[in-house]
Amino acid sequence: MADLIELIQSRQSNPLLKAPSPSEQEWQRVIETACCAPDHGRLRPWQFRLIEGDNLKKLGEVFITAQTKALADEGQLPTEQQINRTKGLPLRAPAILAVVATLQEEHKIPVVEQISAVAAATQNIQLALHSLGYGCIWRTGDFAFYDDVKKSLGFEVSDEIIGFLYVGTPDKAPAPRTLQPTESCFKHWQG
Ligand SMILES: Cc1cc2nc3c(=O)[nH]c(=O)nc-3n(C[C@H](O)[C@H](O)[C@H](O)COP(=O)(O)O)c2cc1C
Repeated sequence: MADLIELIQSRQSNPLLKAPSPSEQEWQRVIETACCAPDHGRLRPWQFRLIEGDNLKKLGEVFITAQTKALADEGQLPTEQQINRTKGLPLRAPAILAVVATLQEEHKIPVVEQISAVAAATQNIQLALHSLGYGCIWRTGDFAFYDDVKKSLGFEVSDEIIGFLYVGTPDKAPAPRTLQPTESCFKHWQG
C-alpha cells in the first residue's frame, strides 16, 4: 500500500466509471473501514445500502417518483426530457452505495456530531476504494433530500442521506490534483 498521506493526496473524485465494481469481499473490507470512523458515544449512526445491476434502474424509478411529487407540489409536471435525464442518473456507475445517517434527535450527542461521524465514515470508504484501485464520486443532488427516496431505501424521513457514492473502475484518470495552498486555511492562533 502507498504511504497513507500519498494515498489521501492522490484520491480524486471520478465521474467516469465502468465495471467492474468491488466484489462482495472487497465491499466487506471497505465497510469495515467505514465502521472505524470516529463516532462520539459509539452510536454507530451509519447505514449503507449497495445498489447494483437492475436495482440501479429501480433507483431511477424511485428518483422519478420523488421528483414528480416534488414538482406536483409546485403545480408542475416533469418534462419528458427531465424524466429521461433522471432515469439515467443512477446508471452512471456500476454500483451506488447510499450512505445514510440514522439520527437520534433527542440524544445528548448532537445531531451535527452524528452527521460528522457518518461523513468521516464516507471519507474512509472513498479512501479504501481508492487504495483498492476503484474510482468513486460522492453525490447528493436533490434526490438525497426527498422523503420518498429515504422511505424507498427503508429509512425514516428524519434520517439523512449523506450521499450516494457512485463506484466503479476509472474509465479515464482525472487530471492530477493541485494541492490547495495551506496558507489559505491554516494559521497559528496565538490568542
Ligand atoms: C456532501 C457532499 C455532496 C456532494 N454532492 C455532489 C453532487 O451532487 N454532485 C457533484 O458533482 N459533486 C458533489 N460533491 C463533490 C464531489 O464529491 C467532490 O468532492 C468534488 O467534485 C471535488 O473533487 P475531489 O473529491 O476530487 O476533490 C459533493 C461532495 C460532498 C462532500
